[in-house]
Amino acid sequence: METFKKSEEFVMRTYNRYPVSFVKGQGCWLYDEKGKKYLDMLSGIAVCNLGHCHPKVSEAICEQARTLIHTSNLFYIEPQAELARLICENSFGEKVFFCNSGAEANEGAIKLARRYGTEISPKKYEIVAFRNSFHGRTIASVSITGQGKYSEGFGPMLEGVKFAEFNDLSSVEEVVGPNTAGIIVEPVQGEGGVVPATREFLSGLREIADRFNALLIFDEVQTGIGRTGELFAYQHYGVEPDVMTLAKALGNGVPIGAVVAKGKGAQVLKPGLHASTFGGNFLSTRAGIEVIKEITKEGFLDRVKEVGRFLKEELLKLKGEFPSLIREVRGLGLMLGVVMNVECREIVSLALERGLIVNCTAGKVLRLLPPLIIGFEEVSIAVETLRGIFKNYERCS
Ligand SMILES: Cc1ncc(COP(=O)(O)O)c(C=O)c1O
Repeated sequence: METFKKSEEFVMRTYNRYPVSFVKGQGCWLYDEKGKKYLDMLSGIAVCNLGHCHPKVSEAICEQARTLIHTSNLFYIEPQAELARLICENSFGEKVFFCNSGAEANEGAIKLARRYGTEISPKKYEIVAFRNSFHGRTIASVSITGQGKYSEGFGPMLEGVKFAEFNDLSSVEEVVGPNTAGIIVEPVQGEGGVVPATREFLSGLREIADRFNALLIFDEVQTGIGRTGELFAYQHYGVEPDVMTLAKALGNGVPIGAVVAKGKGAQVLKPGLHASTFGGNFLSTRAGIEVIKEITKEGFLDRVKEVGRFLKEELLKLKGEFPSLIREVRGLGLMLGVVMNVECREIVSLALERGLIVNCTAGKVLRLLPPLIIGFEEVSIAVETLRGIFKNYERCS
């Protein structure tokens, strides 16, 4: 049975899929069932940061799959300990909890913050989150997601979540208080349309969290692992959180999530308080080790910054050429958004027809999240393809 038909018949229809099914990937390129080649400027939504089937990652997981895949967290797991060490030595972190996805990492961070708060006072369990944010699809993570469409029709959300405006400290002052246990924020809002936080905003949140003895949590599920040109986006800002959540690119495609914490936050979760059967197993952490090693290699992140700058400049040229179509180009490193004056889902389909994979988020933001290994030549191909689409689009509209 053909993939599309089989999928429609047996897979729950939770996604609106594009009519393509890939069978092979290498570096920045994907190949469909008919052998057509696509330039991937999305990386499986910020996951395959090292490109598809990176030899080091593939080799490590193949070797690990032949040796030992899973034993449970009732026992010590060497690659888990090593990945935790690598994360801590390359960040503010002192301790790591492993899970399997971004939503689950945020779920863990909320539990951590609530436990931290309620040990101080029983009513200190409130979480401050931001409008336009996205933190995942579990009940707790949609409860802290500041876009109503994700929680509509799913019954009561988590109690004690207060929303403030992103990049607006005065709105935070209105909802924060002694009962605040945690403040959670994306350094660059991803699903919300690639909106970077300002330095003043994040340092202001640091000050507010300290003032109210609350944990500052950075959701780096999308921005982490080199995406913005630093290993973690907070490193651009010089503002350290108490807790950081990771997932997506940490396994370059192998499911893994992590909660990273320091100070008091690192001591809250004690035996029995939180757990995950699969969390940090041999396979996913072997992948994670290779990912962190590659991205922290000398020069890697400098190159991400350089290619990111080039891509942004090229996109700004497009903005100059198509002022009626493009309103703004924004983002950090290789996490870029082209804010359009039109809905961009159609542009995504047109790009796909021309062998280019891009994404549309927040309705009118064309989002580019290419593999971090992308070269100048591939960037030029992507921009040229977009130029062709915009030319036609402008002519037809
Ligand atoms: C910032 C952020 N947090 C959390 C999530 C949820 O991650 P997952 O889909 O792995 O649960 C996402 C996914 O897009 C995200 O962008």
